[in-house]
Amino acid sequence: MNFLLRSFALSLLATSGARAVGVARGQIKNFVTFGDSYTDIVNVGDGGTAWPVYASGYSDIALFPFAKSGATCSNNITFRPFPSVFESQLPAYFEEVSNGSLKLKPEETIYTLWIGTNDLGESALLTGDAVGFLPNVTNCMVDWVKVLYENGARNFVFQNMIPLELTILYSATGYFTKFWTFPRNSTEWSVFMNELVLTGNEETLLKLEALLPHIPDAHVAHFDSHGLFQDMFNHPSEFLNGTAPLNVTGCVNSCVFQVNDPNNSVCTLVNGTDRDSYLWFDELHPSEQADRIVAREMALVMEGKSSLWATWLS
Ligand SMILES: *[C@@H]1O[C@H](CO)[C@@H](O)[C@H](O)[C@H]1NC(C)=O
Ligand SMILES: *[C@@H]1O[C@H](CO)[C@@H](O)[C@H](O)[C@H]1NC(C)=O
Ligand SMILES: *[C@@H]1O[C@H](CO)[C@@H](O)[C@H](O)[C@H]1NC(C)=O
Ligand SMILES: *[C@@H]1O[C@H](CO)[C@@H](O)[C@H](O)[C@H]1NC(C)=O
Ligand SMILES: *[C@@H]1O[C@H](CO)[C@@H](O)[C@H](O)[C@H]1NC(C)=O
Ligand SMILES: *[C@@H]1O[C@H](CO)[C@@H](O)[C@H](O)[C@H]1NC(C)=O
Ligand SMILES: *[C@@H]1O[C@H](CO)[C@@H](O)[C@H](O)[C@H]1NC(C)=O
Ligand SMILES: *[C@@H]1O[C@H](CO)[C@@H](O)[C@H](O)[C@H]1NC(C)=O
Repeated sequence: MNFLLRSFALSLLATSGARAVGVARGQIKNFVTFGDSYTDIVNVGDGGTAWPVYASGYSDIALFPFAKSGATCSNNITFRPFPSVFESQLPAYFEEVSNGSLKLKPEETIYTLWIGTNDLGESALLTGDAVGFLPNVTNCMVDWVKVLYENGARNFVFQNMIPLELTILYSATGYFTKFWTFPRNSTEWSVFMNELVLTGNEETLLKLEALLPHIPDAHVAHFDSHGLFQDMFNHPSEFLNGTAPLNVTGCVNSCVFQVNDPNNSVCTLVNGTDRDSYLWFDELHPSEQADRIVAREMALVMEGKSSLWATWLS
């Protein structure tokens, strides 16, 4: 839509008294996170401080963390012995609400979900090891909004999946890592992963939009992690600021698995201010600087300001 048309549409919305889109500035006092190692603040994936801790600091919004490393959306669909969103994280949250240890006012609280890396990846959809399929996973992701809404939640940020084919584990040029030590065709992995992520992200957006009429008074933001990480990959100098040459293909903590000598991975660790030159921390996880960028943009969304990477759907 061009600018004039867009402003016209927006002013029509305003004059027709349509329901406000998004949260108001200063409305949100708390955020509750769900997800995997990209969001876990204890078992941190980026080698430093996780994005929710930065986002809380940048925005002065209190953090209530439920995301856990290794998680998938539901172990019914992609079985992995880790605390999934549906069988572990949501039950933990509901338990704290019902026993009175967590008292959050719905209008002051926003819920975030960043999930999918483990659902789509090795030992799951990518390698044919899941019980269900991509549509099951995307239903599950969107059901997270529905289930929380039915229990009183009103404000949500849905973070879509990053271009996982750009991580070393899933790239066409990826080496053997501790994450996957069996033979694989890395070209096929990257092609298939790209398809899974793009299709999955499109499905969740369509399914979220279809859910909106059923969740009146909810505010749902769609956070385009995919676009943000693709932009960091394409234009690293706009985001990365370390003291080493900027690097979006290697990682801070690389371990090259030796096929003929499996107990002897050759590891290299980048230290200090050089780390902020990297997009990836290891073969699967974003770096701390990438996470600061995620935090900065997520803070803007939660504060009711605008982020280039987020769209309020309602
Ligand atoms: C998982 O399976 C159990 C047992 O069939 C069922 O009760 C539960 O609702 C399922 N969870 C999801 C998220 O589908
Ligand atoms: C409420 O449940 C949580 C999670 O199981 C537990 O950690 C906490 O101690 C419980 N609080 C009370 C007051 O029972
Ligand atoms: C996946 O979705 C299909 C089609 O809706 C359904 O028949 C199947 O039971 C689902 N599988 C799981 C594991 O949820
Ligand atoms: C890997 O897959 C690509 C794409 O299907 C194919 O062109 C290539 O020949 C395969 N490589 C090997 C070693 O099988
Ligand atoms: C990126 O980092 C990796 C790991 O530290 C290194 O092997 C590689 O040479 C670097 N690439 C560039 C383009 O600097
Ligand atoms: C690697 O280490 C394990 C446990 O320490 C040992 O059982 C195994 O034999 C070792 N493998 C090789 C190839 O040295
Ligand atoms: C980074 O620090 C580790 C641990 O102190 C050290 O082993 C490693 O050599 C350092 N890396 C570089 C590139 O200096
Ligand atoms: C890079 O920028 C972040 C803010 O995004 C800052 O916290 C960090 O200290 C900077 N890193 C370096 C090496 O200057």
